[in-house]
Parts: sequence; C-alpha cells; structure tokens
Amino acid sequence: MSGRTSRYPGFYQLPLEERARWVAEQAGLTPEEQILLTNGGLTLEEADHMVENVIGRFALPFAVAVNFLINGREVLIPMVIEEPSVVAALSHAARLARAGGGFFAKSEEPIMRGQIQVVDLPDLSAAARALEGQIEAIRAVAEAATPSIVARGGGFRGLEVVPFPDTPVGPMLVVYLFYDVRDAMGANAVNTVCEAVAPLIARITGGRVVLRILSNLADRRRAWAEVQIPPEALETPDFPGDMVIQGILEAQALAEVDPYRAATHNKGIMNGIDAVALATGNDWRAIEAGAHAYAARDGRYRPLTRWWRDEKGALCGRIELPLAVGIVGGATQAHPLARVALKILGVSSARELAEMMAAVGLAQNLAALRALATEGIQRGHMTLHARQIAMAAGATGEETDRIAERLVAERNIRLARARELLRELRGSATEEPQRGEHG
Ligand code: MEV
Repeated sequence: MSGRTSRYPGFYQLPLEERARWVAEQAGLTPEEQILLTNGGLTLEEADHMVENVIGRFALPFAVAVNFLINGREVLIPMVIEEPSVVAALSHAARLARAGGGFFAKSEEPIMRGQIQVVDLPDLSAAARALEGQIEAIRAVAEAATPSIVARGGGFRGLEVVPFPDTPVGPMLVVYLFYDVRDAMGANAVNTVCEAVAPLIARITGGRVVLRILSNLADRRRAWAEVQIPPEALETPDFPGDMVIQGILEAQALAEVDPYRAATHNKGIMNGIDAVALATGNDWRAIEAGAHAYAARDGRYRPLTRWWRDEKGALCGRIELPLAVGIVGGATQAHPLARVALKILGVSSARELAEMMAAVGLAQNLAALRALATEGIQRGHMTLHARQIAMAAGATGEETDRIAERLVAERNIRLARARELLRELRGSATEEPQRGEHG
C-alpha cells in the first residue's frame, strides 16, 4: 500500500458500504473481488469440493483492523472472527504503536520439520550413524518427490536423528527431516517427502518405519515482532502513561509465573493471529498447536510475548512464535476470499504473512494488557455491545454513540431501553456527542 494509509480515525463509525469502499480503494480490489466480500466468496459448489459431506456454508464476519504500521509499511489487517471487541482493540493498539514507529517484524526461512519414526532396531546408535552417512541419498529421494518446491528454491535442508531408548513399546529412533517449503504452509509437501523417503530410511537402518508426518511444532519457522511505545502515547484520561506501563508489566509478570494466566494471555494473542489465519485461508489449528507447544518448550507453559520498560521509560514488547503459514496451496488458493484477504494485506511471500501475523499477535496482547491494567476488559466490550444494540434500535450516526453511552452508564443494555432513548433523543434538543476510543 505504498503512498496509501491504514490510518483512518473513526473508521468504525462509517457505514459498512463506505468502509468496504475505502478498503477496496486502498487495496485496489476489483469490482468482482468487492462482490465476493458481500456474498461470502465461497460458492456451494466450491464448498462441496473443499471437504466431504457438505450440506451448506457457514458465514462469519470479515473485518479489517486499521492503523497498522509494520516494517515501515501501512498495512490493513483482514480478520475473520466471531468475537466482538477483538478488531476494535487491535486497531486501537496499532494506533498506540504508531507513536513509536509501529511494529518491526522478522522471520526465519520457511523450514518445516517432518518426523519419521523407526522401530525394531537392535542398535540405535549404529542406525543413526548409518543415516548420517546417507544424507545425500535421502536428499535426492526427498527432492524428487516435490519438484515444484525445488524449482521455487525450496527443498531438503538436513536431518537430525534422535534416539528414544525407553518408550512404552521399546527403543525407537526419530528422524527429523527439515524441508524448505517456500510460500506453502507445507503440510502436504512435508508429508509427501516423509512418505517418499520412508522406504529408504527403513533400508538404511534395517528397522521398520511407522509414522511419517510433519510436526506442528514448527520451531525452525519462527516469526518475531517488536514494538516500543513512549509513555505519553499510553496515557488515558484516568491513568498517566507510566502507570499504564506499570500495570502492563505487572500483568506480564503474572503470565510469567502462572500458567493459568499464561493460557489466557496467549489466548488473547491467538484471537488476532487466528482471525488473520482464517481470513487468509490458513490452517489455524496447526498455528495453535505450534504456538502452544512452543509456549511450553522448556517444560513450563509461558507467555508468547515479553514486555519491559527501557532506559527512557518506554514500553517495549516482543513476540516470538512458530508460524507455519502459506500464501499458495490449500484454502489460501481454493477460497476466493482468502485471495482477497491476501491482497488487502498486500503480502507477497509466506514469510511476510508470518511477520504481519506476529505483529498482530503482539498488538492484540498489548490491547488486552492495556485494558486489563486500566479500566478492565468489560468496559470496551460493553460499549461495543451497546453500540450494536443502539444500531439495532434504529440509531444512526452520532445517535449511536450517545445512546450506547447511556445504556452503558445505566448498565441496562437492552433493545427496549435503546428504543426509548432513541425516541427521547429525537424528541429533544441535541448535545455535543462523546466519542469512543477505538481506531
Ligand atoms: C478474550 O478473548 C481475550 C483476553 O482474555 C486476553 C487476555 O486476558 O489477555 C482479553
């Protein structure tokens, strides 16, 4: 989106059609792509080809988070999610992050790990040595199984052999096979490769191969993102910036010491990451499995982010997690809206997508910790809910915020009350409206 912006104060207040028009302009969507957004994208016939026993389709909201600056680039974040507040919270956090230049993200080469389990081995060390002497033969068989990935610069990146001498079924050897899958998520490629090399591995080791499958703990395919926010940017009408930072650090400390909190902390991170995964047609179960296994990699479940204060008093944050995502193959190609989402995001490689998702995870966590450390999570949530009720009662434009605020203040977020308030408002003189703080 060079020369364009993701910053749009009050984006959430626009009518849906205007939001869609603005995003279409920013992302250069064709009229056909814009229609896909309104009709859900996937035809019944396409759905029927995607999985088995299809009897219909299931629609979810497709939203866009605004305000993101990632690696100096203005980015709009497509999100498919059913949970209220997530998109607004993310846009808000992205706005705060702009005060420090936005998010800076990086990723590793897209290397996946496959596993080949070998049993019935009398001597594990001898089998491991034999494998290490045959790496080139294994590479040749592996790469012959995925010529298109090899043509794009991917392919075999080595082996690691790990003995498990004591398991419930006796000794076994696991051959980890590393494979660069380029712009694919890579599950199919890696599974194909594992199956292709299995007979050779059985021959070399003299053992019997059982499982041949990728690992979802894609710890050679990590992405990172970092952010730095000056205290002034975090100030609210009720809390000075330093106090907000202190609250965030205290929230972080709890996640560090208590897995019960770490699980919720990481769930909030995944709210953002999964929504982008879903919008772009990626396998969010694979991402979830990888993220949580990575969070527990040293034997204790920990937060995926870290927050600290630097010497200038700014809040600094970092996230690091495996992100096995693709921009080719699977639903990223088969679902027409996934193509649209990738176009809105403006990414041209799987690594870039992973970097954007890491930044989204960090921003989502910032939004949650900031809210938890200040007014609590329910206020923003209630305000959004109240806005929806106000709109359902027929409020438009500024009426929506005014009625929503009354509903929240009265702790009575009901349609009947919203209708009463709307009648009163329309029959009375107008006051200056108050605004919410999203986006
Ligand atoms: C809710 O979906 C996510 C949060 O609970 C995350 C958190 O507590 O950090 C708000």
